Amino acid sequence: MMRRIRTIYSVLFWVATVHLAIAQNANNKAVVIRTANTSLVYKVDNDQVIRQCYYGKAINENDVAGIQLTSLDAYPAYGKAYVNEPAFRAVHADGNLTTELAYVSAETQVQDKNITLTRIRLRDRHYNLSVTLCFKAYQQQDIIEQWTEVVHEEKKDITLFNFTSSQLALRASSYWLTSFYGNWASEMNMKEEQLTEGIKTIDSKLGVRTNQFAHACFLLGVEGPAEENSGTVIGGTLAWPGSWSMEFEVDPLKNLHILAGINPYASHYVLKPKEIFKTPALLYTISHEGKGGITRKFHTWSRTYGIHKGDQPRMTLLNNWEATYFDFDEKVLKQIIGDAAGMGFDLFLLDDGWFGNKYPRNDDRAGLGDWDVNKKKLPNGLDSLLREADRKKIKFGIWVEPEMINPKSELYEKHPDWAITAPNRAIDVSRNQLILDLSNPQVQDYVYNVMDNLLTRNPGIAYLKWDCNRYVTNPGSSYLPADRQSHLWIKYTEGLFAVLKRMRQKYTDVRIMLCSGGGGRIDYGTLPYFDEYWISDNTDALDRIFIQWGTTHFFPAMGLASHVSVVPNHITQRSTPLKFRFDVAMSAKLGMDLQPKDMSPDEKEFSRKAIQEYKAIRHIVQFGDLYRLLSPYEHKRAAMMYVLPDRQEALVFSYLLKKEIYGNDQVLYLHGLEPTKTYTLKEVNKSPQYSRISSLEGQKFTGAFLMTYGVRFQMYNEFESVVFRAVAE
Ligand code: GLA
Repeated sequence: MMRRIRTIYSVLFWVATVHLAIAQNANNKAVVIRTANTSLVYKVDNDQVIRQCYYGKAINENDVAGIQLTSLDAYPAYGKAYVNEPAFRAVHADGNLTTELAYVSAETQVQDKNITLTRIRLRDRHYNLSVTLCFKAYQQQDIIEQWTEVVHEEKKDITLFNFTSSQLALRASSYWLTSFYGNWASEMNMKEEQLTEGIKTIDSKLGVRTNQFAHACFLLGVEGPAEENSGTVIGGTLAWPGSWSMEFEVDPLKNLHILAGINPYASHYVLKPKEIFKTPALLYTISHEGKGGITRKFHTWSRTYGIHKGDQPRMTLLNNWEATYFDFDEKVLKQIIGDAAGMGFDLFLLDDGWFGNKYPRNDDRAGLGDWDVNKKKLPNGLDSLLREADRKKIKFGIWVEPEMINPKSELYEKHPDWAITAPNRAIDVSRNQLILDLSNPQVQDYVYNVMDNLLTRNPGIAYLKWDCNRYVTNPGSSYLPADRQSHLWIKYTEGLFAVLKRMRQKYTDVRIMLCSGGGGRIDYGTLPYFDEYWISDNTDALDRIFIQWGTTHFFPAMGLASHVSVVPNHITQRSTPLKFRFDVAMSAKLGMDLQPKDMSPDEKEFSRKAIQEYKAIRHIVQFGDLYRLLSPYEHKRAAMMYVLPDRQEALVFSYLLKKEIYGNDQVLYLHGLEPTKTYTLKEVNKSPQYSRISSLEGQKFTGAFLMTYGVRFQMYNEFESVVFRAVAE
């Protein structure tokens, strides 16, 4: 009992001291990171420790003085009295385990009309080690991109054990975390939970294809669960395809600390004097219009900064993966090319199976690494296919998986040492393959040259699907020295970026799809090199509604490839109507993954029209602001809409997920329209059999009416869908 009282007293004493210290320092130096509508305020206390004091709606410059100091370290290091999870932990050259960072200086540069860069320099009180907190603030989009740079001039190497990109901290009565989790064919599921005292970690230790089980994105409802259209929500995502971690620690005083960055697990980093260690960036924003506000800010930002050529429309395509798998030859492909062109697709995408001769790629057991055209399947090379595509006036794309190697390949016979594997252990294959060690510059050159040769020899290739089908197990690099093996996780990703950068310098116009056995790799570190992404191998339209719902919280529909495939679906065995499959795919970037010769004439005709209609509305999907109307997690009807920034046009999607015997009459309250404008409603991709909105067809309503009274119509059958456009006069 006595002991307990003593503990309580000492806690009270500590809390009191902290508050006293804070009260004494009300007018300290402030560093403010601003965007058009938000402010992030730091203050330096009398002991030169920098504290995060505010993140929220914009604060007037004259009012910053009124912001009080807090006890929340901007970037807490392990040492002194810090006992929560540290942002930074290093072992110094002399073995000292602790670091004490003090504020040195801060400067803000205006980079252009939209971007400011603030650098806050901290330095250890004793050692020659500096840590710089860097913030790019995107004014119009309210996005902050934060990373950290570490450099030292100690006498010998130091070892970094924790090195987060950022540490956001806040104080509220409750915190509600939405995380995104899944697995192959079931990506981007959303789960919300209230955070309690302690640490909730979401992370990936997979090294490559690190989103297989979880995505490096979070939404945080402040003071209550995150609402769609109201309330304060913080959203963040890490721009890094390597192992990552996000920790949400609620401390005993109920502060929340959000630590995000490279996963430090088995990844300590030996830093030489003068070498700069730069973490990836956490991108985040705060919305006072709920989750919807977060989404729209990220989408707008990504179209300028986050995704390659985000200002250009995306092509429709037909992919032969589910049509043929590995089983094709020139004749089959020419037939598909002809059919794809006939239906009106912009591009034909040749998938896996076109390469390897000594070890032909006839299934997933052989050939990865040997990127020469398989002479048996394609005796006239790619050239003949490219010419055929040209004749049919359709563009041509091709699948590659250049980071990977099958042990059954000529490349492996020559360079077994290029594969990632631990020494003195049996190799551990997954999908019969290993990963090439991109920490090795020779391997980087090899991968670059594979792509360079393919594209220079075949200048007609307009599109690549860059796949990546396994994650790292049994880690080991024969290139990295014994005492740098733990660098593999970081050096691999840096090597990948080096290759992608080199490729993009030479090939800016080739469209590239980011794929990783579905959505195993999707992040804003990688997407600036890619035009689009394949979020799931699961093409079942019902499952896709959920997968795309989660994904589009952070990543825009313009890049989200969504394909109509056959029924029963190859993965789920579910059958859904063709219109439903199209309506789901049309809410993102429309494509198709089936053998067109197996379609009936009616199906082909329906598809031809749907593709034509998509081409007429794709600018709204690809460049519009997304508003979610009815969540499939909460309702039997799911609905969403896109509105062009000038509010002239909107496109609404409504899906019934389950049969409702007496009809489903949930109202669609539209969003984002101009209240005073008059909009005409027009159904898109009509079913030849029925229309649920025939009475509304051609009707005119004001934006105000559509947003307050809403659009009302019944839906009945499972997998029914309605798409309509609202066009202002
Ligand atoms: C991965 C991709 C698929 C397909 C196959 C080919 O699984 O996600 O779309 O390209 O590889 O092997």
